[in-house]
Amino acid sequence: MSKIVSEKMYELGSKRSEIRELFEYGKKRIAEVGAENVFDFSLGNPSVPAPDCVKETLADLILNGDPVSLHGYTSAQGDAVVRQACADYIQKTHGCNATANDFYMTCGAAASLTISLSALAQEGDEVIILAPYFPEYKVFIAQAGMNCVEVKCRESDFQIDFDAFEKAITAHTKAVIINSPNNPSGAVFSEKTIRQLATILEEAEKKYGHSIFIIADEPYRELVYDAEITVPFIPNFYKNTLVCYSFSKSLSLPGERIGYIFVPPCCDEHDAVYFAVCGAGRSLGFVCAPSLFQKLVPACIGQTADISIYKKNRDLLCNALTAYGYRVVRPDGAFYLFVKALEDDSRAFCEKAKAHDLLIVAADSFGFPGYVRISYCVSTQMIERSLPAFEMLAKEYLK
Ligand SMILES: Cc1ncc(COP(=O)(O)O)c(C=O)c1O
Repeated sequence: MSKIVSEKMYELGSKRSEIRELFEYGKKRIAEVGAENVFDFSLGNPSVPAPDCVKETLADLILNGDPVSLHGYTSAQGDAVVRQACADYIQKTHGCNATANDFYMTCGAAASLTISLSALAQEGDEVIILAPYFPEYKVFIAQAGMNCVEVKCRESDFQIDFDAFEKAITAHTKAVIINSPNNPSGAVFSEKTIRQLATILEEAEKKYGHSIFIIADEPYRELVYDAEITVPFIPNFYKNTLVCYSFSKSLSLPGERIGYIFVPPCCDEHDAVYFAVCGAGRSLGFVCAPSLFQKLVPACIGQTADISIYKKNRDLLCNALTAYGYRVVRPDGAFYLFVKALEDDSRAFCEKAKAHDLLIVAADSFGFPGYVRISYCVSTQMIERSLPAFEMLAKEYLK
């Protein structure tokens, strides 16, 4: 072990994530057996190009914009015009009061989350996360010096298990992170669920005499596939909400690092919370989100990549896997299928899948052992080619 670096950071940096390991393995296998024979379902990287408005707006900005201001620093919290465009959109779409001064532009949801947690963190605070969860939550919570409390969702539909949730709330609870549509389960929390969550948290706030925040992690907000599914806008149901939004998935721009935090005007001590968000952004070095991509936002907010391709992929994979005997809860959103492994040890199951060049991720690091995540943000042709391999794998177990 090195004597000159932070042990904690060394640990984080030297331990590759399981998902990245698998992706690297896939690249090696492609070199060995050819791309058409490897079925890589490991990453959550959008497979659909950004909508035309992105190319058109970028071209216009580059050809006609002032190059100095285009690539220059903006205000630390983001360009005022861009923040006003976000406010107008939220007001128009969700009917929620919003001004430019309620927004902090960020480098995507990851930055939004780590800034929000650091802004709220006080000694001894606990943050509840709902399993299955995005594994990075634990890293962000630890970075903020907070303690993580895990609550498992119901296995039948991956909705909140409210009995378990209520038991997990203590005098130290400061926040709960919710992610709907969910990575990795694809579950979407209904309005009824959000209302129940809000009631429980309001009672807990009264009981313990302090504010408890919902941190709404929303990179998948627009990725829902059926007309009857709506994604409630949480601040309309619970005032102490910080919305951590990202354009990574909606506009297929994950590499460009652009998103925002919305601090609703109605939240407790709004100005203090907003200043703490600005302070956390400053202390973490997340000031002035990428300027060019901030300036793209006013023209593209509310648009999406062609998500009908994800719907097609979901239906294809979900129907085929169900027919082969896998247990699949049909996901309402995001682009992941969460499937029960055909043996208790999901890592061992993924190793057996690897023998068929099926690269799927064990859900242990998502806090839900016994399951696997299959990302269907891939080409439909790859899914079609992979189906015989999924069928053979099932037959090994379900003889
Ligand atoms: C649930 C969830 N939250 C946050 C992120 C981070 O998103 P971003 O690329 O905007 O930082 C991801 C990325 O996959 C995610 O799945």
